[in-house]
Amino acid sequence: MSPDPAAPLAGEVALVTGARGRLGPVWARALEEAGAEVVAIDVDDADVTDRTSLEAVRDRLERAPSVLVNNAGIDQPPDAGAGAVLDHGEFLRVLDVNLAGAFNATLVFGEPMVAAGRGAIVNIGSLYASIAPEPGFYDHLEGFLKPPAYGASKAGLVQLTKYFARLWGPRGVRVNTLSPGGVRAEQDPQFLAKYCARVPLGRMAEPEDLTGPLVFLASEVSRYLTGHELRVDGGFTA
Ligand SMILES: NC(=O)c1ccc[n+]([C@@H]2O[C@H](COP(=O)([O-])OP(=O)(O)OC[C@H]3O[C@@H](n4cnc5c(N)ncnc54)[C@H](O)[C@@H]3O)[C@@H](O)[C@H]2O)c1
Repeated sequence: MSPDPAAPLAGEVALVTGARGRLGPVWARALEEAGAEVVAIDVDDADVTDRTSLEAVRDRLERAPSVLVNNAGIDQPPDAGAGAVLDHGEFLRVLDVNLAGAFNATLVFGEPMVAAGRGAIVNIGSLYASIAPEPGFYDHLEGFLKPPAYGASKAGLVQLTKYFARLWGPRGVRVNTLSPGGVRAEQDPQFLAKYCARVPLGRMAEPEDLTGPLVFLASEVSRYLTGHELRVDGGFTA
């Protein structure tokens, strides 16, 4: 049966990690508006790098989530200097949250979906899963180096998506990546001009540009889609 276009997630429980940052509340609101009951967790409720803390959240829920949005993510401050950005420990820390964290949540909340025979997991990637940061975007800023760990973690997440899509597709659980382009915030005017000149649609993403694609991937509207990376980047990676 096709989902109700006005409420394609009616009756579903959706869990969002990293839900109190910039995009987390945007995802939570969109899922709610699409009819889902939303469980929004952040590091104070459960640290994605600690599987037992995720299990504790899962065990407290009255209803098991049928939608998981792996949104928790960190980046290193680009003005931290090459020493920090290229540090081994810092590199591992980013991979731990962005990649191993999504792996943990996928197991903790995805295994009950497999047992139930249905579910949808959306991993929040990035355009930097596909392309490297352009150093010229930052050359007006002294000592500014975009770290390599972030893109490596997001590229890994795309692969993790494919892994679980293959493993769990036959069990009724779909797994996809939503990779946003840069989202408009307080970027400096020079960066903004250089970045936007590279985007076919001519601007950075507004949070609202991302919500339709999220609901699409989370709901039965995309029921024949799994293992896919949906790039919502204004054409940047085209
Ligand atoms: N904002 C963008 O331009 C943009 C672009 C592409 C992709 N993304 C991705 O979207 C997601 C959200 O980005 P954002 O801009 O809202 O970032 P943000 O930093 O505002 O929010 C991230 C949230 O994750 C939480 N978090 C960090 N470590 C955690 C942990 N160990 N366990 C649980 N939660 C943890 C933080 O507390 C924070 O609330 C990230 O995965 C990011 O990589 C963002």
